[in-house]
Amino acid sequence: MDFTVDIFSKLDKEWALLAAGSPEDHNAMTVSWGGMGTLWGKPVVTVYVRPNRHTYGYMEREEYFTLSFYPEQYRKALSVMGSKSGRDCDKDAEAGLTAVKAGESIGYKEAEVTLVCRKLYHSDLEADKIPQEIIDYCYGSDPIHRMYIGEVVDIIRR
Ligand SMILES: Cc1cc2nc3c(=O)[nH]c(=O)nc-3n(C[C@H](O)[C@H](O)[C@H](O)COP(=O)(O)O)c2cc1C
Repeated sequence: MDFTVDIFSKLDKEWALLAAGSPEDHNAMTVSWGGMGTLWGKPVVTVYVRPNRHTYGYMEREEYFTLSFYPEQYRKALSVMGSKSGRDCDKDAEAGLTAVKAGESIGYKEAEVTLVCRKLYHSDLEADKIPQEIIDYCYGSDPIHRMYIGEVVDIIRR
């Protein structure tokens, strides 16, 4: 598997979609926090999901998830996926994205690259281990993220 990116800007600047479920029953949301690297000798991605996201329930339920990347022309679609909730509307339709099967999970036809991941680990970030200025800046009354680490089992290119 070959995936060469600028690791510090790929998620932060370009964003990605985190999706879980099947083409018939899934949810996806925009993410810009996460990591890519190696753990237990495996290629892994790490993502951080607040428990109040609709996507969270799918991340909890499913064994696999995908992290997918898009050409710049889909920036508006990613804004929709990152500002509306699948709880309230058909986000795929509003964003103009087409859900497709991606390995054991779901991805989107419009993606340039889709990383198919098998959940290996999860853990809630603990407030007392986070510097106070970050708590003040990122949390307030919002719930703290759950971290998921997934093994990248496949890379699908358009
Ligand atoms: C650029 C961008 C990056 C985001 N990154 C994250 C993230 O890393 N983790 C997270 O929990 N929410 C993140 N969000 C917020 C969710 O995408 C947003 O709340 C979304 O509407 C949740 O949808 P859902 O309720 O259908 O899951 C981000 C939003 C944007 C616009």
